[in-house]
Amino acid sequence: APPLQDVDNQELENLLSSLPKERGIIPSYSYQYQGFWYSPITLQGIINCQKYFQPRENDIFLVTSPKSGTTWLKAILFALVNREAHPPQDPHHPLLSKTPHQLVPFLEFLHPSEYDSLCNSSDSSSRIFATHISLGTLPKAITGDSGSLNCKIVYLCRDIKDTFVSLFHFGNNKKTSPISLEDAFNLYCKGISSAGPIWDQILGYWKESQKNQHKVLFMRYEEMKDEPYLQLRRLANFLGIPFSQEEESSGLVDQIISICSFESMTKVDVNKTGTFVDGFNNSSFFRKGVVGDWKNCLTADMASRLDQITEEKFRGSGLSL
Ligand code: A3P
Repeated sequence: APPLQDVDNQELENLLSSLPKERGIIPSYSYQYQGFWYSPITLQGIINCQKYFQPRENDIFLVTSPKSGTTWLKAILFALVNREAHPPQDPHHPLLSKTPHQLVPFLEFLHPSEYDSLCNSSDSSSRIFATHISLGTLPKAITGDSGSLNCKIVYLCRDIKDTFVSLFHFGNNKKTSPISLEDAFNLYCKGISSAGPIWDQILGYWKESQKNQHKVLFMRYEEMKDEPYLQLRRLANFLGIPFSQEEESSGLVDQIISICSFESMTKVDVNKTGTFVDGFNNSSFFRKGVVGDWKNCLTADMASRLDQITEEKFRGSGLSL
């Protein structure tokens, strides 16, 4: 049975009062839990899923850092997994009437009673969730006691400078707690950002993807932009639902890419209007959708500081961003 909200609130209060607290970039305050910074709402969701989430064998988890292209990959995953029930050219395709966040919800924003009722995959035994939670904080029911993952994880990352700039603009979309570029930048460099330090979050999944290639697929925003066809095929293969000859020659892959493109998605009414949670507009998840926009926002010094941190953090890991 789902937990009683009151019990959870008391537990959350107790937890929050025991955790390090700092000003956050987007929420007013961030709390450090198991080495990573989260908002109170997210922490509530984390406690809930750590306790109550029961994975199914074919569940798919999309993991990202905020602003690395989550919304885009949610759409891609939904369209890919459900391509038989909902061909991408269907004029009534769910992506034309619902936001990617409605179709593929964040695990940490769901109430436990919604885990089981979620039915967003044509294979009714599996579900697609997204999350920003770090690997070590994912429910043990997913990661397994011995670290042997019970579900497939698709991890998406993006150039750190672009991710930061996207986050800064996103935060300032919400008029209630604006933050200066300089303050946001300093917090980010210290690792104090939603699900940050971003480097540690990425490294956790990167290492797991190296150890466990059948369970974790490591993807990059820039590669999706550069070679979407190849990346989509890679994703389909990883999920065990490869494109057939027939599908490839019918143009299905291009149709999925097209329905999920920035241009198409920003034309859909539901993505232009309405709100997500916490006062954010659905439209704020679509800004420019390009690679390298950091050049219009960061000074050369800021860029090289971020690059330097990235280089130091990733040294020896085989990963470069
Ligand atoms: P920018 O702010 O750089 O434009 P998230 O979904 O993780 O919150 O990430 C949001 C970022 O992804 C934003 O980046 C947004 O514009 C971009 N984005 C959203 N939809 C996209 C799409 N279909 N194709 C490419 N980028 C997209």
